[in-house]
Amino acid sequence: MLIRPARGFAGSVRLPGDKSISHRYAMLGAIAEGATRLENFSTGADCASTLACLHTLGVKWERNGSSVVIHGRGSKLEAPRSRLDCGNSGSTIRMLSGILAGQEFTSELAGDESLSRRPMARVIKPLEMMGARIEANDGGRPPLRITGARLKAIDYKLPVASAQVKTSLLFAGLYADGETRIEEPIQTRDHGELALQAFGAEVQRQMRAVSIRGGQPLHAIEATIPGDISSSAFFLCAAGLFPDSQLSISGLLLNPTRARLLDFLIGLGLRVTMGDLQEQHGELVGTLQVRGGVLKDARVAGGDTAALIDEIPVLAAIAPYTSGGIEIRDARELRVKESDRIASVAANLRLMGAEVKEFEDGLHIPGGQTLYGAEINSFGDHRIAMAFAVAALRAEGETLIHGANAAVISYPEFFKVLESLLQR
Ligand code: S3P
Repeated sequence: MLIRPARGFAGSVRLPGDKSISHRYAMLGAIAEGATRLENFSTGADCASTLACLHTLGVKWERNGSSVVIHGRGSKLEAPRSRLDCGNSGSTIRMLSGILAGQEFTSELAGDESLSRRPMARVIKPLEMMGARIEANDGGRPPLRITGARLKAIDYKLPVASAQVKTSLLFAGLYADGETRIEEPIQTRDHGELALQAFGAEVQRQMRAVSIRGGQPLHAIEATIPGDISSSAFFLCAAGLFPDSQLSISGLLLNPTRARLLDFLIGLGLRVTMGDLQEQHGELVGTLQVRGGVLKDARVAGGDTAALIDEIPVLAAIAPYTSGGIEIRDARELRVKESDRIASVAANLRLMGAEVKEFEDGLHIPGGQTLYGAEINSFGDHRIAMAFAVAALRAEGETLIHGANAAVISYPEFFKVLESLLQR
């Protein structure tokens, strides 16, 4: 993909459904009673991987564009006749493992080369404590072979802040005798808890702990999935690059555990207002009006890093254009995402002529730098492809992104929509 610099950025958009919520609603729809009707389902390949796995597990569904109807089977899925292909999706393999741990059969989950490198011990260990048997490759990597069992509840402190793991264990908790309690070191996105409640389960939340009682039946829902706030980050950051920009995004997910991005961008210098606030199945949704400003400096560390984990690539990619630079710390988890995102960001920024300091757990990117168009790489990572399309908008000269097609993982329409918002 060739990206030419732009002069301005303006327009209105509505985004495809949030990826985190789409995965969860699809999985819970599959084990609920009745037909779950979802509008604005994520158009990303990751959520298609979840639907494909559910099909292999005997779940019937129909898809018409972004409308999906899932015919729930109740708590029991069908033994698969082939391996479940999770593609590139960490959410699919980790969260589905929680459901498969409670089934009366053995299933095998695998994925692409990137997924095969990602750590799964974080779900294997607690799911084994609950009674499932799980075999994995050396070092706890996929493929996973899960033999389900009647599970027992656990009281578990997550060693890493991960919403995927928390959700996986809550899903397993539905199949456990007793009450499963999960405590997280830092609060992560709460879509798993909210989705379970939407499907009729009782979930107790106390500060950083969540509990669920096993054996609760789920009922189908009808929902319109709010626009993906992590995908919106690319447009918000693009708006930030042009002082006269104007952007309106309606129907956007504004869940407080995801919206730290907005606080961050306001702190950095964007002008953001929020309206039309509504609650849909416990999720906050609204419209954003955004105008550019002068970008200052920022530091992301501790709980902010966990809250901004998917947005850090694009925040880092625009850092050279800020006046004071951006520092990111406590972000070791970025090294085990779809690519080593610390290394991917540093490599591309350097190829574009920027000075970058790389730490084991983050990056320091000085401000006031000029980026130059270059040949860069997505490293097969959707968020890296989109982050650098944004950085390229203010570079001197054209930028060629190899492997830009990786954007299909979360936002296949990204480059087309980006182009429609640019002024040249
Ligand atoms: C997600 C949680 C995060 C995030 C991922 C989606 C989720 O991963 O990076 O894109 O939907 O729960 P971790 O759970 O590994 O932190």
